[in-house]
Amino acid sequence: MIVFGLRATISILTLLTVIGSANAEIAGRALFENDCAACHTLKADAPAKRGPHLEGLFDRRYGAVEGFPYRMVWKKADPVWTDKEIDNYLFVHGRYEAPDRATLIEYLKKATRP
Ligand code: HEC
Repeated sequence: MIVFGLRATISILTLLTVIGSANAEIAGRALFENDCAACHTLKADAPAKRGPHLEGLFDRRYGAVEGFPYRMVWKKADPVWTDKEIDNYLFVHGRYEAPDRATLIEYLKKATRP
């Protein structure tokens, strides 16, 4: 009985974790759709929008989309988009509190994978 109870508890915890991460993905997608999708696509071959596509964003160099007319001068010692850099970019642009930035970044990590 005790063993059964423990197993049931463990599978409920597993289930909650799965639901939790699904919720985070839904929340991240909603942030992207609401606040970024007007200007950014997630795929390189999608029709161009006002901003550069974000496919392969993580570990991509700053301003690296071929043919996109970037206006900013990206001067950095280590000019590659990492979690930290994206978090900072969103922070500097006054986007969201830290937990929402983390949720969006987690979503982008999966969604921008080539
Ligand atoms: C109103 C349009 C617009 C919206 C909305 C927008 N962006 Fe952008 N974004 C741009 C433009 C334009 C650039 C290119 C800036 C330049 O010219 O240097 C850019 C650049 C970027 C870059 C750098 C890409 C690279 O190739 O180096 C990232 C990352 C980015 N945006 C993420 C986001 C995220 C995440 C959101 C949503 C929270 C967002 N942007 C919302 C227009 C937008």
